[in-house]
Amino acid sequence: MPHLAEWDLVYPRNDLSRARLRPRAGDPLRDGQIRLSVEKFALTANNATYARLGDSELPFWEAFPAPTGYGRIPVWGTVSVAESRHPAIAVGERFFGYVPMSSHHVVEVPQSTEDGFFDLTPQRADFMHPWYRTYRRAWEVDDLDDHRTVLRPLFTAAFTVANLIAAHVADGGRTVVVTSASSKTAITVATQLVGLVGLRLVGVTASHRVGFVAGLDVFDTVVGYDAVDTIQADGKPVLVVDIAGDIKHLGAIHAHFGGAVRDSALVGYTHPSAVIDPPELTPQPRIFFSPHQEEMQREVDDGYEGRARRVERATVDAVARWLKVRRFKGPKAMAEAFRAVLAGELGPDEAVVCTRK
Ligand SMILES: NC(=O)c1ccc[n+]([C@@H]2O[C@H](COP(=O)([O-])OP(=O)(O)OC[C@H]3O[C@@H](n4cnc5c(N)ncnc54)[C@H](OP(=O)(O)O)[C@@H]3O)[C@@H](O)[C@H]2O)c1
Repeated sequence: MPHLAEWDLVYPRNDLSRARLRPRAGDPLRDGQIRLSVEKFALTANNATYARLGDSELPFWEAFPAPTGYGRIPVWGTVSVAESRHPAIAVGERFFGYVPMSSHHVVEVPQSTEDGFFDLTPQRADFMHPWYRTYRRAWEVDDLDDHRTVLRPLFTAAFTVANLIAAHVADGGRTVVVTSASSKTAITVATQLVGLVGLRLVGVTASHRVGFVAGLDVFDTVVGYDAVDTIQADGKPVLVVDIAGDIKHLGAIHAHFGGAVRDSALVGYTHPSAVIDPPELTPQPRIFFSPHQEEMQREVDDGYEGRARRVERATVDAVARWLKVRRFKGPKAMAEAFRAVLAGELGPDEAVVCTRK
């Protein structure tokens, strides 16, 4: 691909295998706008989920404008201010936030906050939760920069799910079954819960990933999707945390535990077969949208922020001991990285970090 000053990677919404590099003229900024240079971002099944479900009731394709029929895949990453027409935001400042797979991203009328800014672009304000429009000042770069880049977008989900699980145990529940146990979200949940008295944490994953997940020693039991019926059922209340999004697997877990299932939280959609609509099961599974959960947990816990950041630091330290980062540089390599993520080709001990240059 030729060298371009500004570009977008766009995908036909109905064919995620065909990335197209689209050059873009850097239009002059209006008052109040800033131009962000996209420095570094991670790609995980989270981004594949944004793309696969982009036309669903979670309309991720609408986040960033693209030609008709195409979409720009949202990613979370570090940006630096390349140009500013906002009095409170200076060129060179670095932030972490939600951006497209592009060289640059223009944010309209940013409202400056204590530790960053809040994007007020009307297109995004119409449908997106404020979580996706909050840009926080980036951390100082250190040896764990890549790992933090991978885990930061997943941490709110992992932290709020861990809190849900702790509440389940405090409420007399014992068993928690987590699907897509090899996902970074699932492992980050499990890593926080090591040592929680009274919890039996069961991970369910593809049979060829059972060995790796079991070896991390953060779940009490790990089984393949084809061995759910071997999980010991003791009649005590069960919480299901579904990260795979596959009705077949979720149905098998509900069928195995029967009336003991107290709650079933739909957290993720890693499998290509995933659908957004909650399946007809008893009890009715419910969508667990972590930004909303975070809001509710903050309301009852004024120590939430400090605790979350402490746990995040400890989790990044723990995960960095085994998670290998694969670096991809430039748009062509980014497209190849997304293809591999979408196809589920990465090892569970690998993560992708992309840099523009
Ligand atoms: N609810 C929320 O607010 C919230 C917030 C953050 C993330 N999420 C969601 O959580 C999920 C996990 O994200 P993540 O970043 O942790 O993912 P990840 O680490 O990239 O997950 C990788 C795992 O997903 C499964 N997988 C991925 N692609 C696959 C494919 N093509 N075929 C079959 N299995 C595949 C495999 O696990 P197994 O073999 O173990 O199934 C694989 O090891 C995403 O769907 C994301 O959108 C939700």
